[in-house]
Amino acid sequence: MAGSQTNWGVLLDLSGPGPKHEQLARALRRAIRGLDDGVSVPPSRQLAADLGCSRWVVTQAYAQLVAEGYLDGRAGSATRVRRVGDAVTAKPPARPAPPRYDLAPGLPDLRHFPRQRWADAVRGVLATVPHTDFGLPDRDGHPRLRKTLAGYLRRVRGAETDDVVICGGVTDGVTRVCRALQANGVTRLAVEDPGWTRLRRAAAATGMAIDPVPVDDEGVDVGRIPRGTRAVLVTPAHQFPTGSVLSPRRRADLLAWAREVDGLILEDDYDAEFRYDRRPVGTVQGTDPGRVALFGSVSKTLSPALGLGWVSLPPQWTLPGHAPPVVDQLALAGFVDSGGYDRHLRAARLRYRARRDRLVEALGPGRLSGVAAGLHLLLHLDRDAAEVTKRARAKGVKVADLDDYREAPGEPALVLGYGNLADNAVGAAVRLLREAAG
Ligand SMILES: Cc1ncc(COP(=O)(O)O)c(C=O)c1O
Repeated sequence: MAGSQTNWGVLLDLSGPGPKHEQLARALRRAIRGLDDGVSVPPSRQLAADLGCSRWVVTQAYAQLVAEGYLDGRAGSATRVRRVGDAVTAKPPARPAPPRYDLAPGLPDLRHFPRQRWADAVRGVLATVPHTDFGLPDRDGHPRLRKTLAGYLRRVRGAETDDVVICGGVTDGVTRVCRALQANGVTRLAVEDPGWTRLRRAAAATGMAIDPVPVDDEGVDVGRIPRGTRAVLVTPAHQFPTGSVLSPRRRADLLAWAREVDGLILEDDYDAEFRYDRRPVGTVQGTDPGRVALFGSVSKTLSPALGLGWVSLPPQWTLPGHAPPVVDQLALAGFVDSGGYDRHLRAARLRYRARRDRLVEALGPGRLSGVAAGLHLLLHLDRDAAEVTKRARAKGVKVADLDDYREAPGEPALVLGYGNLADNAVGAAVRLLREAAG
């Protein structure tokens, strides 16, 4: 819009609350959003005459908009619209184009979210829930879901629990337990290195001091948890991202450590549902429920967008915070109770296993590890993984560098997630990845 053609009297609608100069400032802000950078606004005397108000009203409004960065007012020249640096009209920074093939770990198969059965579960809740459930919700979660999940964890994960707290996922649960730990004087948290960076950061954001502890083929090296640390966050069923399983020897060491230091084990029961070539291992919590907080969520089984998870806590612990929306909680309870969740997991397991086989075959002679379970594997490289990651990204393939998950760089490897990779994309993605690594 050119300045000389701008009909300011028509453009400016002086209405709404507040004194005249505030009404004018508001109207000018709205008008400026449709103008080009550098367009001059009328001299204050002229605009005051057009609007039938005092010149003071106009100068006040202009001064306000200069202060906010909408107008550029230099002595001796016209006051002009300024788009550069304007916090309101500035465009957000451009997002990088989504990759053609996304092999970053973290997502389940979003194409197979059970839309129909989830919709049935939500409809079932709304049709049958007593009106009292629309009242103030229970902070620890709806009793029905708590009971359902406790039963599920006993049956499927060998957990020793008859109550759980409902939370927004593992990250939310760990954050809340960290706050409870600090309220009890525990301010250090040992974490696996490598480990899931997001969880480590979430714990650090609560004020916990973080102690990285090395991981090997047997899982976390318990003997290297620093003295004075009384809480440890582990992924015993499927270590993220190495894929190792905590060995029986290390399980015993871990529990002995917790008893000795009067500590708490935070067990992230990660990817426990997806195990292909070996028998599932039960939870550490099932062996000593008084020493373990057990975390799980539907983020890798259904979708992280649902924001539904659980924590089974030793009896003396209570958690700050609130449970997610009640209708969603009850939908999950209905989904589990009807057998829908089990059916979904059985089908997903078969699908992921077939996709894993396809990926392993396509990767051919590459040195792999962590293939027996979960939704990702490691591809070991004999060249710089950061460079390969960058080159793969330029070819439209997103992969993660193992170094992104550890404190200090180590042997080069890529973390390849296949949870959300379309089956018919495996071949093309691996071809491009090979070119990037070649
Ligand atoms: C190691 C690990 N734990 C837990 C989760 C699930 O976290 P949340 O429930 O907060 O989505 C993930 C998701 O990728 C993960 O990688």
